[in-house]
Amino acid sequence: MRRLDGKVILVAGAGGIGGGLARRFAAEGARVVLGDIDPTIAEEAVSDIAKSGGEARAITLDGADEASVAAAVATCREAYGGLDGLHANFATLADEPGDRGILELPLEVFDFTQRVNMRGYYLCTRAALPALLERGGGAIVYTSSIAAYTGPPSQVAYAMAKAAGHALMRHVASRYGAAGIRANIIAPGMTLHERVEAGLTPEFLEVMKSAALIKSRFGRPEDIAAMSALLMSDEGSYITGQAICIDGGMTMRA
Ligand SMILES: NC(=O)c1ccc[n+]([C@@H]2O[C@H](COP(=O)([O-])OP(=O)(O)OC[C@H]3O[C@@H](n4cnc5c(N)ncnc54)[C@H](O)[C@@H]3O)[C@@H](O)[C@H]2O)c1
Repeated sequence: MRRLDGKVILVAGAGGIGGGLARRFAAEGARVVLGDIDPTIAEEAVSDIAKSGGEARAITLDGADEASVAAAVATCREAYGGLDGLHANFATLADEPGDRGILELPLEVFDFTQRVNMRGYYLCTRAALPALLERGGGAIVYTSSIAAYTGPPSQVAYAMAKAAGHALMRHVASRYGAAGIRANIIAPGMTLHERVEAGLTPEFLEVMKSAALIKSRFGRPEDIAAMSALLMSDEGSYITGQAICIDGGMTMRA
């Protein structure tokens, strides 16, 4: 399928899922700018894309820094002539280690998590919107988490930031829908790739598997990428303002 031919897409945050997004977008014909705070992570995916004949660039991007985000959008304009899609995907898991609730989590970890995961998506949106509007419209997809719904006993800062992304998505969808902008958010459940697998115990994986309705496998970056490619494409042109869980049925949200 070449549903993204002619489109330019900025993927903010490489890593397991971001690399999967970039590979899928490029395979469907998009020209991709893939940014990460650690450029070597973006370069790995971009090198795979080049080997498969796709078109992509790796850049250093700090999604929590306004100038860095503006530079990423400028790269899209300079390298490929504009911007048709943004997938804001990066996240810090700074509040993950240890079983810490609101009383135990240091305020600076809370602040840092909001700065990257919440304010960062806000900054990316502010930088991308003018470029999307210049093209007469476009698509924004955000990566959330089922943590936005499940009320985890730890990771309060992460869950709060992810839930805020849903409010941001709805704002963008409602305010800019008439101008041709669509906004949607994908909430993954357990999505396995090399980078997350390294930190998980077999016991934890068993618990996650038993909580999902699909038990034959875990989610993969390709599952998230397939949905985002649909949302970025003209086939998704009547889908906006939606939150879509890709979690093997774990949350069964109506
Ligand atoms: N893997 C899962 O099970 C899972 C589940 C739910 C949600 N998610 C979400 O999916 C997204 C991708 O996660 P992943 O599993 O690929 O993790 P990952 O660690 O492989 O990727 C995250 C990337 O974000 C980058 N990053 C961190 N801070 C940044 C910043 N300030 N600016 C730019 N880049 C920055 C990291 O360097 C990393 O490459 C995240 O938003 C995460 O919250 C993942």
